[in-house]
Amino acid sequence: MAFSPPFLKSGSATPKTLLMSVQIAPSLLAADFARLGEEVQAVEAASADWLHLDVMDGHFVPNLTFGADVVAALRPLSRLVFDVHLMVSPVALHLEAIAQAGADSITIHVEAGPSVRSDLAQISALGCHAGLALNPETPLDLAEPFWEQIDLLLLMGVTPGFGGQPFITSVLDKLRAARRRVAAMERSILIEIDGGVSRQNAAAIRAAGADVLVAGSAIFSQPDYSASIKALRR
Ligand code: DX5
Ligand code: ZN
Repeated sequence: MAFSPPFLKSGSATPKTLLMSVQIAPSLLAADFARLGEEVQAVEAASADWLHLDVMDGHFVPNLTFGADVVAALRPLSRLVFDVHLMVSPVALHLEAIAQAGADSITIHVEAGPSVRSDLAQISALGCHAGLALNPETPLDLAEPFWEQIDLLLLMGVTPGFGGQPFITSVLDKLRAARRRVAAMERSILIEIDGGVSRQNAAAIRAAGADVLVAGSAIFSQPDYSASIKALRR
């Protein structure tokens, strides 16, 4: 599915301005799990653009989080773009339930198995934006066969599985290369950086070409969500 207005929360900017201003996606992984609904509403009130939801299966990554039922429970509470990051393998098992739960975008890992092409096709067929994620050490070349199928490229800034890790700075070179690659295309593909994004490095990540910054601990571990989101956006 081509890039289109559903990537925006309603009443927000046009797609053109979206491409010019960075989108901030708080990652629920760092929220208070005992108060998930309130946390979602708090970051929405604090001017977040998207909500990043990390689904982990304890197999593809050594951690467990939540699945489609939690996504569905949160969906009526918010108009944010629900950006679901699947760290699961196999992927196909979960796609229909996650889409029905109200995901706007579903991102899968190129490292998750041999069925990337059919999984991306299924995500689009389910009416969601399709994202492809690359681990920090995975070369950009591995995305090459899939550019035509994706709306979003997610570059991990940390090894997936846990929040609160430091950003791996070599990912900036891959981000610059991805920005050049995407700029040469006719289709709009957003580039998202996930993991280790902080007040200290956000400007460098934006300058290297990111459209979307995912941030867990840089937002949820701070007392003032609004100030933290502003600091990442600036
Ligand atoms: C890591 C997750 C990230 C994580 C980011 O596997 O994909 O979304 O929550 O957390 P921070 O911002 O704390 O690195
Ligand atoms: Zn994530």
